[in-house]
Amino acid sequence: MTDTTLAASTEPATADATAAPAAAASRPAVREIGIIMNGVSGRMGYRQHLVRSILAIRDQGGIELPDGTKVTVKPLLVGRSEAKLADLAAKHGIDDYTTDLDAALADPRWEIYADFLVTKARATALRKAIAAGKTIYTEKPTAESVDEALELAKLAAAAGVKTGVVHDKLYLPGLQKLKRLIDSGFFGRILSVRGEFGYWVFEGDWQPAQRPSWNYRAEDGGGIIVDMFPHWNYVLENLFGDVQTVYAQAAVHIADRWDERGEHYTATAEDAAYGIFELSGSQGPITAQINSSWTVRVNRDELVEFHVDGTHGSAVVGLFGAKIQPRNATPKPVWNPDLEDTHDYDADWQQVPTNDVFLNGFRQQWEEFLTSYVLDTPYEFDLLAGARGVQLAEAGLRSSREGRKVELPALSLD
Ligand SMILES: NC(=O)c1ccc[n+]([C@@H]2O[C@H](COP(=O)([O-])OP(=O)(O)OC[C@H]3O[C@@H](n4cnc5c(N)ncnc54)[C@H](O)[C@@H]3O)[C@@H](O)[C@H]2O)c1
Repeated sequence: MTDTTLAASTEPATADATAAPAAAASRPAVREIGIIMNGVSGRMGYRQHLVRSILAIRDQGGIELPDGTKVTVKPLLVGRSEAKLADLAAKHGIDDYTTDLDAALADPRWEIYADFLVTKARATALRKAIAAGKTIYTEKPTAESVDEALELAKLAAAAGVKTGVVHDKLYLPGLQKLKRLIDSGFFGRILSVRGEFGYWVFEGDWQPAQRPSWNYRAEDGGGIIVDMFPHWNYVLENLFGDVQTVYAQAAVHIADRWDERGEHYTATAEDAAYGIFELSGSQGPITAQINSSWTVRVNRDELVEFHVDGTHGSAVVGLFGAKIQPRNATPKPVWNPDLEDTHDYDADWQQVPTNDVFLNGFRQQWEEFLTSYVLDTPYEFDLLAGARGVQLAEAGLRSSREGRKVELPALSLD
């Protein structure tokens, strides 16, 4: 831990790392940004944020801004186990780690606080980081309730700190292809979106589960609605339109599960959710229907797929792939249960070419956030956007509990 490790770190490249982003004229040629990375031993913290994003940016020598400024990154690993942090630091050539979050937050060398903790621990840590005046970058969901998520957004706004919330699914190659299709007008008027997300997560008895056990305990912040509805909110609002209402049915399909130590526990959080969302599309209302499940065996090309139907064409997109069927290449099936249908419906679809190089989505968003931070430009995927994601999760849970459609009022910082 700690004071010694913190003290051993080298100085940042800028003379005053706490200063507000400097005006372009006085910006140094190289700007090193110190980033507190909390929860870095976890699945997301380690793989996506540390290895695939921050270390990848470090190892390529930083990122270059349009004006030629180079932005480099310096991580400070924070966690509860000094031994784990020491291992990670040694393995990846990182100078700084600590178990003392308060000391890290008090140290002006670290400008950004990044949070990958279990959901339950997030709000307390974010509150501290905002009070310390740090720029915030965080996993979703930003809090466990919309009130708390909105309060965090307001606190950050009042403190004048920039905030960013992970919106990784928007950066998936398949969804970027979908965005291109939408922007090109391919669909005509979009009518509906059907999403299928999920895969089988083992119960943990005869094969270890491939997700953490807290995901299945409501009291520990688990549940597929809290996990996935924040994603669906930003996917829907950024691609199709704001979510106006939600109807969701949650299910604990498998109550008996075994944890990381092989011990039996009773699942208290839903492992599947069947949701219907009404959206305000730019050309009229859109109905979205998304199934999210950790209790489904995959019979699709990818672990997530969205099928979009429009008046002029349809598309099916996944993490990577995208295929389309325009109006003028649409077959004309006729329902006849007496005749076997030999038409090859798969063959009616055309692959959308990639035409681009897509970075890892987490890293691309980190690069955009760092750029926005240094240049002091507006950043739309902020804690208010994060609060809308929490709002949808909360409304989905309420809908399921009360068996009715729930409206989502617009959230604001006022
Ligand atoms: N963007 C995405 O696609 C995506 C995917 C999965 C999870 N997530 C989110 O990322 C976060 C972490 O999920 P994960 O799957 O990496 O979980 P994980 O259990 O693998 O990691 C959680 C981390 O939090 C730490 N931690 C646990 N309890 C703590 C406590 N009480 N106080 C402080 N630290 C604590 C752990 O040591 C670990 O470092 C969650 O909020 C989850 O919703 C996002």
